[in-house]
Amino acid sequence: MRRKLIAGNWKMNGSMAALVELDAIATAATRSPGVDVAVAVPATLIAPATARAPTLAIGAQDVHHGDCGAHTGCVSAAMVREVGARFSLVGHSERRADQAESDAHVRDKATAARRAGLDVILCVGETSEERDAGRAEAVVTAQLAASLPDDAAGPWLSVAYEPIWAIGTGRTPTTADVAAMHGALRARLRDLLGVEAEAIRLLYGGSVNDANAGELLGAGDVDGALVGGASLTAAKFVPIIEAAARLG
Ligand code: 13P
Repeated sequence: MRRKLIAGNWKMNGSMAALVELDAIATAATRSPGVDVAVAVPATLIAPATARAPTLAIGAQDVHHGDCGAHTGCVSAAMVREVGARFSLVGHSERRADQAESDAHVRDKATAARRAGLDVILCVGETSEERDAGRAEAVVTAQLAASLPDDAAGPWLSVAYEPIWAIGTGRTPTTADVAAMHGALRARLRDLLGVEAEAIRLLYGGSVNDANAGELLGAGDVDGALVGGASLTAAKFVPIIEAAARLG
């Protein structure tokens, strides 16, 4: 039985003042003991977020694939862990596009994060052109296979299916499409990992909000959500946590 995970991704948003939002999010998490709640904040906010909300799982949005060295401007997994991060996203489509991260690079980042003791949320997803061409499942399952870290296993690893065309657009796939994709991801994980596949959580991400969370979280093989815009305020994020709690 996989526990639901509701993870926020603040992207390049937030400030010291915005950390006040974590107070009500942490309270909602405490009130929903059956749900895991996490928030990936900008690297500069990891330490203050952890200090402000010590019961909440605070994480990074990216880590370097190396442990240390001459990489100006980069931050390692050990560095974010030292200041309180418990997990990191890797392979978000915005990084795959903006920083030209390949599947192999994402795999190395995920492996580095795990080596440093972080949980990992590995992101995959197709473009609208790939979906329209009927290639969504082939593209996404191939991304998964090529990005999986060494010794992949749950529950430290989660996979977030985030169709690129659904991110920040207010558009979502049908619940049938989400269930079909998650079923395909689970099947590929079973092929690759055998029984280890069962404990890996599959999250849906892309325009999740308080109105659609219940339905999306209830779809087959959906073990949680990765939430962007609606994670920036407690007013929008807490109802999503509560929707997950109602599903048990
Ligand atoms: P939105 O929830 O803003 O669509 O973003 C989804 C996302 O990219 C989370 O990583």
